[in-house]
Amino acid sequence: MTAHVVRQQLRTLVREVKKRAYVPYSKRPEAVVLLLADGNWIPGVRVESASFSLTIPPLLNAWTTAIALDRCDVVAVAFSGTVDASVRAFIEGLELTFDMWEDWLVADSRMLPSVREPLSPFCSGRFADPAQGVLAARRIAERAWAPHSRFPVGCLLQFEDGRCIPGVNVEHPDWTRTLCAERNALGTALSYGVPGTSWRALFLSCVKDVQGTPCGACRQLLAEHCPSLTVWMDRGGANPPEVSVVESLLPGFFVLQ
Ligand code: THU
Repeated sequence: MTAHVVRQQLRTLVREVKKRAYVPYSKRPEAVVLLLADGNWIPGVRVESASFSLTIPPLLNAWTTAIALDRCDVVAVAFSGTVDASVRAFIEGLELTFDMWEDWLVADSRMLPSVREPLSPFCSGRFADPAQGVLAARRIAERAWAPHSRFPVGCLLQFEDGRCIPGVNVEHPDWTRTLCAERNALGTALSYGVPGTSWRALFLSCVKDVQGTPCGACRQLLAEHCPSLTVWMDRGGANPPEVSVVESLLPGFFVLQ
């Protein structure tokens, strides 16, 4: 495929994906599409938070989805806006080499695949019991990108229809651009058009901390989208998981009417 055709196709996709951005505060939707080596692609939208600095930028959202799905073979990135200094700084930290163009990045314009389907992030989440769910999250944690903390975290966000999507923590040399497993899954769900009203449960595992619970930032974002979400937390070995609900983990969480 010629770079020109791929660029046009990705532009069209980005325009569609942008409609899923969660931007109630700025009303300025933003999105990216990551093109993978086989032509499948990953969407990422901007997810704003009432606790404003917790806002997830679209590239961070899509990149962390790629890691959780074990696909870092990104060959091009298309943006709804222009590539700014913050995007450049983010990309530099990934140690991936791209040519920087105005509204897209490309690894090698001679090697671009035809654009195909969105990569599916969904897996079956019909667990016999919650212990099976946290065991699955434990396996997902193996995909975590945590070279700085060496503290891998994995989760599965389960929807009312029984499907799940994975999340892992993804670190960045600029620590402020690190994303936790829980917010990774949250951002993936929204990027693929699954709103908080259809989330049922979160299964969470961090084997380095058998008392582990979601951090404050994750509690806030989860509460903004699904305060009634059940959270099952791995307690290590064959111990039964501990259960809680997001609104009990962050009583009186901040909302912006
Ligand atoms: N982390 C999570 O993924 N979830 C949490 O709830 C707590 C912290 C990650 C972020 C970072 O990569 C590492 O664990 C240490 O903070």
